[in-house]
Amino acid sequence: MTEVKKIVFLGASTAFYEVSEIIHIINLKQKTYEIIAILDDNIEMHGKLMRGVKVEGALTLASNYTDAYFVFGIGSMKTRLIRQEILNKINIDESRFVSIIHPSAVIDRSVNIENGCIIHPGVCIGNNVIIDSFAIIAVNTAIGPYAYIGKFAMITSLVAVLSSVKIGKSVFIGSCSCITENIEIGNGSMIGAGTVVSRNIDKGCFFLGNPGRLISRIELPKDHQ
Ligand SMILES: CC(C)(COP(=O)(O)OP(=O)(O)OC[C@H]1O[C@@H](n2cnc3c(N)ncnc32)[C@H](O)[C@@H]1OP(=O)(O)O)[C@@H](O)C(=O)NCCC(=O)NCCS
Repeated sequence: MTEVKKIVFLGASTAFYEVSEIIHIINLKQKTYEIIAILDDNIEMHGKLMRGVKVEGALTLASNYTDAYFVFGIGSMKTRLIRQEILNKINIDESRFVSIIHPSAVIDRSVNIENGCIIHPGVCIGNNVIIDSFAIIAVNTAIGPYAYIGKFAMITSLVAVLSSVKIGKSVFIGSCSCITENIEIGNGSMIGAGTVVSRNIDKGCFFLGNPGRLISRIELPKDHQ
């Protein structure tokens, strides 16, 4: 019998509902995960129940759960850059983060998905893609062959990432964007919804529109240089 993995969820946000729903669907076929606790630094959430799971306390309690696995539920356009910092603070090895993959995702067998990723319904991933740890690929997004998706990157819904694109660490790509073939987007950059990116984007840029334009430069933390 397969081991049922106990899961501690980091972050009491809407991502909890989305990801716990994926876990529910996975469990319908075979009981694989059991969410045992949620941790969040917002003290107003402490003691509250989300889908019957209690927000037990701050993120630093993570190390108390010695036999559990972890799922990151923190990640939005604004918070995307702090996840590395949180990971350093809680001091949990990356190997203890599971990747949660919706069964409707179509993923070529050659794809390498590292720990802690979330792959939402309807995602299609072509051959020889690498999805680095903690990346989030949202609903109905397509990733073309030989693309690389960086650590902590957030590729939101209905995005087309074409072949051989390289997306840097903690990059955020807004909904309905298209990143054309061979393009590179540097660490920490943010791409607005509906943007067509057809030239390389430097690290720490806020870029949007069609034709795309550089709006501003973002100051990046040291671990994103
Ligand atoms: C880029 C974004 C963050 C801008 O938000 P904002 O700072 O509040 O910007 P505003 O709405 O005040 O708009 C400022 C200007 O930029 C324009 N603009 C905003 N977003 C734009 C976009 N994605 N593409 C083109 N122009 C955009 C607005 O039309 C406005 O133009 P104006 O000054 O000529 O009137 C937001 O529009 C966006 O794209 N968010 C991504 C959300 C997303 O995809 N989430 C994923 C969910 S799965």
